[in-house]
Parts: sequence; structure tokens; C-alpha cells
Amino acid sequence: MTRSDDERTKRAPTQRAHGVGLGLRHELSRDLFEARPAEVGWVEIHPENFIGRGGSFASMLDEARARYDVVTHGLTQCVGSPDPLDATYLRSLRELLRRQNARWHSEHLAWGNLGGRFSHDLLPLPFTRAAVRRAAETIRELRERLEVDIAIENASYYGHPGEAEMNEIEFLGEVLEAADCKVLLDVNNVWVNSKNHGFDPRAYVSRVPAERVVQLHVAGHFVRTDGLIIDTHAEPVCEGVYTLLEHTLAHVGEVPILLERDGNYPAFSTLLDEVRRLDAIRTRVRDEARISALPEIRA
Ligand SMILES: [Fe+2]
Repeated sequence: MTRSDDERTKRAPTQRAHGVGLGLRHELSRDLFEARPAEVGWVEIHPENFIGRGGSFASMLDEARARYDVVTHGLTQCVGSPDPLDATYLRSLRELLRRQNARWHSEHLAWGNLGGRFSHDLLPLPFTRAAVRRAAETIRELRERLEVDIAIENASYYGHPGEAEMNEIEFLGEVLEAADCKVLLDVNNVWVNSKNHGFDPRAYVSRVPAERVVQLHVAGHFVRTDGLIIDTHAEPVCEGVYTLLEHTLAHVGEVPILLERDGNYPAFSTLLDEVRRLDAIRTRVRDEARISALPEIRA
């Protein structure tokens, strides 16, 4: 470790993402760093974009760390993939997590690689007991290698392979139990899947074990003319997702909320309007919970 690395490590606060955060993307970083809007409390990165890369990627990460709490969300170590985990990459990721005193790292409950080749998309897992065992094994190995809690994200899907032995929320619950891990609940993914596959999103959220939720994702999606909803992260957040977020926060309590935007970028001020609306929902639900927890005042 170099001296400057050592000094930075000592200075790094424990990861304390609070309030509403924004996914750090090149397209947004200049506006974010110049404006330093008070509404944005933290940022989330895909570590694959930064590990082993210098230049503008390294300086963007340094700048993000200097200004924000940084949370990591992986894209390549999906917990349902049949391939073994990438030990070399995970050593680098562990160093990155140590440097920012991370409390958790998240990956997707999906698969995306086979025989060393990666799919561009996250692929759905069969809702089977064998897939539960495989995912739980991988999550436990990730936790051992990374030395932080692992949160798994519920993924969007457009069909699931094989004969289902349980439904989606039962599958998520079984994996959480078997791996004894945390969950990053993507509210938009619950909404998208509920519309595409016909279930009640509020009932789904109510069955998520609240004590395991460490973070939420919110994003926009695209509705095709045939009604199929595509999880693009390239549209404004829809009203149904805002409402579902309110229900989710009332169930899980106050956890950090991340706005994901990955394309079709609007003016930065428009994105901040969405951040402000998410924060207004967060504070309203928190305040309502505090009021209802007050002891009854007797005359
Ligand atoms: Fe997400």
C-alpha cells in the first residue's frame, strides 16, 4: 500500500449512505460534481467500471469518494451463474471495499455468464430448490471472499426457464434464508415483473423480510405498444413506482434509496426533481411512522 493510499484509508468514513443517492455515470458526473446538489446524499458505482482502470475513471472515483459516500453494486458476479466466481477480480473488489469501509456489496439474483463468456443481459434463474442452493452457496462464498455483507437484488425478467417449484417472492425468500444475506429491493423491478407476470406488487413487497433490506432501487421503464414493460432505466419514474415506494418504505423503514438512470439522460435539473420527489416520500413516510409510534396522549 502506498503512503497516500494508507492516508486515504485512515480518512475513509464508514459507508453511511443516507437518504437518496444517484447512480454514478460518466454522463452525470460533471453536473453532479460541479453542482454538488444537497438533494443527492450518496452515490452508487458499478465496481467493474473502475477496477484496474486509471485515467478519467480513477479520477472520477477519487472525486466521488471525496464528496460522497460510495456504495458498490456489481454487474458480473451474479449469484446464480454456474461458472465459478472470479477470485482475482474479487481480491481487487475486496481492496476497493476496504478502502471505503463498505458495510455491504450487492449483486443480482440472476445469472449472466457461462464458460467465461458474459451475456449483455442479466438472465433469469429457474424458481427451483436447486437454484436456491446454488445461489446460497455463491452468496456465502462472496461474503467470505469480500468480508462484507452481501445484498442480492431482485431482477426483472421476461420469462423464467424450466418448471417453477415456487413463485418469485418465495424464491427470493428461500435464497435469503438459505444464504442468511441482505436484500437490495428494486421497487421498479417488482413493479415491472408484477405487470408482466400478473401478481400484486404490494403483496410481494409485504412478504420481503424487512430486517434484511439494506437499500432500495428506483428507476424508470419503457412500456411497449403490446403492453410488455421493459426495464430500461431510461425513462422517468412512473406514478405506480412512486406509490409502491411509499408502501415499501412503510414496510421496511428508513433505508437508502438509489435512483438508477442509465440512458436517455434528461437535463440534470429534471433528474434532481425526481431525487427531490423520492426524498419527499422518504421524509413523509418516516415522519408518519414517528407520529404513529408516539404514545397516546390522555386528557
Ligand atoms: Fe436495480
